[in-house]
Amino acid sequence: MLNELQKEILKLKKEKNAIILCHNYQPGEIQEIADFIGDSLELCIKASQIKTKDLVIFCGVDFMAETAYILNPGKKIVIPDAGAECPMAHMLPANEIRKAKERYPNAAVVLYVNTLAEAKAEADVLCTSANAIKIVESLKEETILFGPDKNLAWYVSQHTKKEIIPIPENGHCYVHKMFNPADILILKEKYPDASVLVHPECDPEVQQAGDYVLSTGGMLKQVNESSKDIFIIGTEIDMSTRLNRENPGKKSIPAFEEAICENMKLHTLEKVKNSLLNEVFVVTVPEDIAVKALKSVQRMLDISR
Ligand code: 13P
Ligand code: SF4
Repeated sequence: MLNELQKEILKLKKEKNAIILCHNYQPGEIQEIADFIGDSLELCIKASQIKTKDLVIFCGVDFMAETAYILNPGKKIVIPDAGAECPMAHMLPANEIRKAKERYPNAAVVLYVNTLAEAKAEADVLCTSANAIKIVESLKEETILFGPDKNLAWYVSQHTKKEIIPIPENGHCYVHKMFNPADILILKEKYPDASVLVHPECDPEVQQAGDYVLSTGGMLKQVNESSKDIFIIGTEIDMSTRLNRENPGKKSIPAFEEAICENMKLHTLEKVKNSLLNEVFVVTVPEDIAVKALKSVQRMLDISR
C-alpha cells in the first residue's frame, strides 16, 4: 500500500509527464514509486530510450544522472539531492588518465561508468560490472588501462588473457570495502543451503568467498531463476530490499548490515516531490565534454547489445 506522499508523487509525475529512474540501492519507499529500477547498465539503456518524457527524476548518484544527460542532451534531468556523488567516480580525474595514456600509448582505455563526465571523455569505451569482460574482450588492444575500481579490474583480469592495468592504483568503493570473508563464512555456517552472491567491487578475497560474482542486475536475475531459497548478498543493503520485495518466497540477507551507500541515501520521498514540483536539481554536462563522452557511452551500448 502506498502512503499519501507516495500517491502525491505519482500524481505529480503524471501531471509533469515525468519518469522516475531508480538505482537498486535506493530505499524501498523510493523503489515503490519508480517507473524503472535497475543496475548501472540497465539504467544507461533505459536513459537511451527516453523520448516522450519531459522530465527525468534520477534517483541515483551523480555519474548516473550525468550519463542520462549525455545520452539525452537538452532533456531536463534532475536529481533529488545535488550532494549524491559517488566518491569512487571522483578518484579518477581526466588529467590522471591523460598521464596514464602517455605511459602506455598503445593501451585502450576502458572506464567503469562510475566516472566523472570529464573522464568518460578520455575513454575509448565504458563498461559496467554487468558487461566489463565482454567489453574488454571485444577490443583489439592487448593492454587495457582500466579504472577507477581496482577490484573490478582484478575481476576482469581473472577472465581475460589481456594485461589489465588499474588506474588509479587504488580506486575503490568505500561501501564494498566493508565486506570481509570472515563475515561471509559465519553466514555460510548459519545458512548452509544459501547461495552467496557478491559484487565485483568487493575485494578479491571476498569475491573468492562468493558462489557468484555479479552486478546488481545479475543478482536479481540469479535470485529470480535459482531453485535456492536463501541468498547472502555482498553488496549495498537495499539490494536485498529489492530482492525480498520481488521474491516474497525467498530470503535475501545482506552479508554486512552496515554496508550502506550514504550518498545514495541522500534522496528521500520529500526531495523527490520537491524535484517534481520545482524541477531541481538540474544535471548538465558542458557540451564539449558531453559530445566526447557520448562516443564512449554509445560504444559500450553498441557492444552490449
Ligand atoms: P551495478 O548496479 O551496476 O552493479 O553497480 C553498483 C554500484 O555500485 C553502482 O554505483
Ligand atoms: Fe559509488 Fe560505491 Fe555508492 Fe556505488 S555503492 S554509488 S560505487 S560509493
